[in-house]
Order: sequence, then structure tokens, then C-alpha cells
Amino acid sequence: MNKKIYAQITGLGMCVPPKILNNADLEKMVDTSNEWIIQRTGIKERHLVEGQAVSDLSIVAARQALEDANLKAGDLDLIIVSTTTGDMQFPSVSCLVQKRIEAKRAACFDLAAACTGFVYALSVANQFIISGTYKNILVIGGEVLSAITDWQDRSTCVLFGDGAGAAVLQPTTEKRGIISAYLSADGNFADFLKIPAGGSKQPTTAETVNKRLHFLKMKGNETFKIAVRAMEEAAKEALSQAGLSYKDVDCLIPHQANMRIIKAAAKKIGLSEDKVFINVEKYGNMSSASTVVGLYEAVKEGMVKKDSVVVLTAFGSGLTWGACVIRW
Ligand code: ACO
Repeated sequence: MNKKIYAQITGLGMCVPPKILNNADLEKMVDTSNEWIIQRTGIKERHLVEGQAVSDLSIVAARQALEDANLKAGDLDLIIVSTTTGDMQFPSVSCLVQKRIEAKRAACFDLAAACTGFVYALSVANQFIISGTYKNILVIGGEVLSAITDWQDRSTCVLFGDGAGAAVLQPTTEKRGIISAYLSADGNFADFLKIPAGGSKQPTTAETVNKRLHFLKMKGNETFKIAVRAMEEAAKEALSQAGLSYKDVDCLIPHQANMRIIKAAAKKIGLSEDKVFINVEKYGNMSSASTVVGLYEAVKEGMVKKDSVVVLTAFGSGLTWGACVIRW
């Protein structure tokens, strides 16, 4: 009998641009304070691009992940990029990455599930591997949120940062890698987080630009309430699918949107703070890049080791939410 196949993460990479914008810098731009930002969000600084696009950050993360996996770009079968801030409407970022890393054989597509995007993309890649369709998949979560941030809107501009993370997935017959994945969404909350103009509903005009409708708009308070419940539900569902409980978890890597959301969700899942990976203070909310950069750093810092049970849990615009259980 054929052995069951699992999708293992064999390589990881990340990239944040060098420029840092700290809370003192923001105090000079909008009516805010370091104290307010830290108390309400936990964020101290964020990295911002200076002219780079998502593909520029993504190829750095991708090359690092390939080297970590000891895999040549030419051996990749598929590239999935999760992003809501692509270089342009089309072509996809994945095609731009494919060209620049010379992954000539790879099929390419982008996936949009906002901050839950990397969890969605991992889950899709997992299906291609366990079905035997592909052997070598590159999954990237990358965002240049500074390009869609309204730097005059204090309620959103303090929250976001730019970055990218990448993971290489390959098949294994050992029971490790992605053990379970749970995805969910509710379009009834589509208005909570959106860019109103620039799409087919309201194409860009001088008027939409004057009204600043090409920037991200968010109902922060309403999103906050659902975020905690959504990340709890996703983590519990994915653990239950894996036949595990919160007691088995060695490391929770939640979407890094806000320290208060992270701590409240971890508490509801039943985890003590020493099991929760947090880097929101130095990067802010990097949307799709958040959980993969978290995983990269948790591995590098030794919080995730061989055989660790890791849970990625996230929520984002859509609204979307989801979680993956990974045995490292
Ligand atoms: N500095 C100072 N004061 C501010 C700022 C700021 N940067 N922003 C808002 N305020 C003020 C408000 O005007 C309000 O003042 P008022 O009481 O006089 O009206 C007061 O602070 C409280 O505002 P709230 O919005 O109620 O503050 P809250 O505690 O909810 O924190 C925040 C706001 C940080 C946005 C929080 O709601 C949050 O994190 N929400 C979730 C956002 C999120 O996680 N999004 C993730 C998805 S992102 C994606 O998918 C791309």
C-alpha cells in the first residue's frame, strides 16, 4: 500500500526593506503619540519600501528559501504568491518572481485573501502536494502596504508595514509538515476593510483620487471584535482536524495585527504567552507576510524545533480567517 504523503516545509526566507519608520516619526506626520500606538497596538516601528515593489521583496525571500531547501529555482513546479498589493493589477507577482529567479518550469498564480493569504496559500499548496500533482512548490506572502496606506489617516497609517516571506514545500512520507488546514470566510463583512476605488466597481478617476478612495479604509473597532473570535475558531478547528488539542501546541504564530488581538486570541485558545510568537512591535501588520515571517523568525530563534507542533492562525479582509497545524 502507498504511504500517505505530507507537505513538508523544507526552506524558509524573508525580506523587509531597510528603512524604518518609528512612532516618533509618525508623531510628526499625524496627530498621534508613541504612547497611544504602543498601548493600543503594541507596534513600535515598521519597515517601509523606498521605491521597491512586492516582487522585489519576494525574490529576496524566495532565493533565501530555495537555498535553505537546497533546491534550484529551475526545479520548482509551482509558485503561489499571496498578496493584495501586487506590483500592478496584472500580470501576477508570481509570474514576475518566476522570471527573475528563472523558475522556468513553474506554473504561477497569485491568491488574494488579505492577511489570511499565506494560510490560504499554504493550504492550496498542500493539496497539490498530497494529491501528487507537484513536488516542489514555492509559497510567498508579500505586501507593500505603504502603497495603499493613507498617510493622512491616523486610524490606519500607524498599523502597517512592508515585507515578504517565502516557504518551499516538498513531499515526505514522514508525518510532518502540514497536518491540517482550516479555511473560512464571511463576505457579509466585506465593508470592514477595503480599498473602495481602483477596481471595476469604481475605476480610478481624478475624483476618486481627490476623495482618497484609492487608499485602504478600515472599521478598526468592528474588525477587532471579530478578529479575536476568528483566530480562536480557526486554531481550534485546525487542531481538532489534526486530532490535537491546545495542550499539544508548542508554538502559536498568530497574524501580527495588534498585540491586544494576539494576546486575547491566545488566551481564548488556552495558551500561555511563552508559547506565542510575537514580532508585531518591530514590523507592524504586514498582512500576507505576517505569519510566514513569524514562522521564519520562530525557527531561527529556536522557538520552533524538530517535532514542534506549530499553529499558524490569521484573519483579514473579506473577512477571511484560517489556520494550519504544522509538525516541524
Ligand atoms: N493616535 C491617536 N488617537 C487615535 C489614533 C492614533 N493613531 N487612531 C485613532 N485614534 C483615536 C480615535 O479617533 C478615537 O478617538 P475618540 O474616542 O475621540 O473618537 C480613539 O483613538 C479610540 O479609537 P478606536 O478606533 O476605538 O481605538 P481602538 O482601541 O479600537 O484601536 C485599532 C484602534 C488599533 C485600529 C484597533 O481597532 C485594531 O487594531 N483593529 C483591528 C485592525 C486589524 O487588525 N486589521 C487587520 C486586518 S488588516 C488587512 O486585512 C489588510
